[in-house]
Amino acid sequence: MFKKETYIKRREQLRKDVGHGIIIIPGNHEAPCNYKDNTYWFRQDSTFLYFFGLQREDLVGVIDCDNGKDYIFANDYDIDDIIWTGPLPSVKELAASVGVGNTGNLNALRRKLASAKDFHYIAPYRADITRQLSELLGIKYDAVARFASMELTLACVKQRSIKSAEEIAEIEKAIATAYNMHVGAMKMAMPGRYEYELAGFMEGEAWKGNGPVSFPVIMTVHGETLHNHGHNNKLTKGRMLVMDAGCETAMNYCSDITRSVPVGGKFDSRQKAIYEIVLGANLEAIRVTKPGITYKEVHQAASRKLAEGYKGLGILKGKVDDIVEAGAHSLLMPHGLGHMMGLDVHDMENYGQINVGYDNETRPSEQFGLGSLRCGRRLQPGFVITDEPGCYFIPALIDKWKAGGKCKEFINYRELEKWKDFGGIRIEDDVLVTKTGCRVLGKPIPKTVKEIEDTMAS
Ligand code: GLY
Ligand code: MN
Ligand code: MN
Repeated sequence: MFKKETYIKRREQLRKDVGHGIIIIPGNHEAPCNYKDNTYWFRQDSTFLYFFGLQREDLVGVIDCDNGKDYIFANDYDIDDIIWTGPLPSVKELAASVGVGNTGNLNALRRKLASAKDFHYIAPYRADITRQLSELLGIKYDAVARFASMELTLACVKQRSIKSAEEIAEIEKAIATAYNMHVGAMKMAMPGRYEYELAGFMEGEAWKGNGPVSFPVIMTVHGETLHNHGHNNKLTKGRMLVMDAGCETAMNYCSDITRSVPVGGKFDSRQKAIYEIVLGANLEAIRVTKPGITYKEVHQAASRKLAEGYKGLGILKGKVDDIVEAGAHSLLMPHGLGHMMGLDVHDMENYGQINVGYDNETRPSEQFGLGSLRCGRRLQPGFVITDEPGCYFIPALIDKWKAGGKCKEFINYRELEKWKDFGGIRIEDDVLVTKTGCRVLGKPIPKTVKEIEDTMAS
């Protein structure tokens, strides 16, 4: 946890920004895996973490804009719990540790909300929280999402988008662990190993950093499948291995790093050619990222580098600007350049992508590829964003575009046939927007062809 003053200040700011009514921020409950008492590992809700910092389940935070008070409501544990859990702090003690002076049990919460007319909550993403809000506020279950507060949502986005120095330090801690995950796995990426051995190693390294992975590890020799969570393939020479993995610190700040390496440790000429193109796009994004530019523009700058590279290989043809304008390069990168990162690996995604990554000025594109950009808006100092270009030869997609003659003035489909067995490559860094430009966060993780080959040889 940060010092209690951090949470007091955040709640004060939120009270000022929302301005009226009662803000209800439910913490998460335990989630059963295969029966009630065998749960998934507990993950606190990120909005609750941001404003109240506490990891216990079943807490409800309340920020009252009308009387200026903060509250935490929950039932205290009794001896029937404590024989299983050991001694635990009381709700009052927990609340005091984050500067909250008012506490009560769940009946007291029901009484406080019984006659509330002006209330705010974030649209829930879990069924149990939907039911809890439905019961507390007397709203039909199916109508809970509809009554969620846009004022609260946008006020949360405003605060959480700008990372403080102490948050950056936590994120860099998560990247330090990701360094161990990735460098260790690179060295293991030899023929005969199985993807699950490397994925398992990464999970272990994450827990050695005192937190879980920040999303299920992507460790695959079929990197052309963007989020491939299967781990059953044997590593064979000639395949590229995509490793997209990060972790959370004990306070749940995240890292999200991708490295792509040749099984066996040496790039062949085709692998090197594609790798250098993707790396060029990753570096171009770092070169142009600064306050004032939109991330949509950064995505397009990286896209021009990709198009230029594919033209050089004879896969694309025509003018680079025209290729990008038409979205022809998106056949090989059907996703956006990046997303915000913080307490969530896709930060604040539960607030709705449109509210986090876009605003009145920058609206989402409808074009294939660019339309999947999770964050397009104008950058500000303090944003943490991922820079993750990739190249994927997806046979089914290539066949579909080819059959429809899509962008045929820009795509050399005959040449593309030769690449259909390649797989994929992605390179991903976590980047802080600074006052004058940007900084790739954390200890540098081997990224150039030489750095990767040297690491895998050591
Ligand atoms: N780990 C998924 C992503 O990079 O967005
Ligand atoms: Mn990733
Ligand atoms: Mn990412």
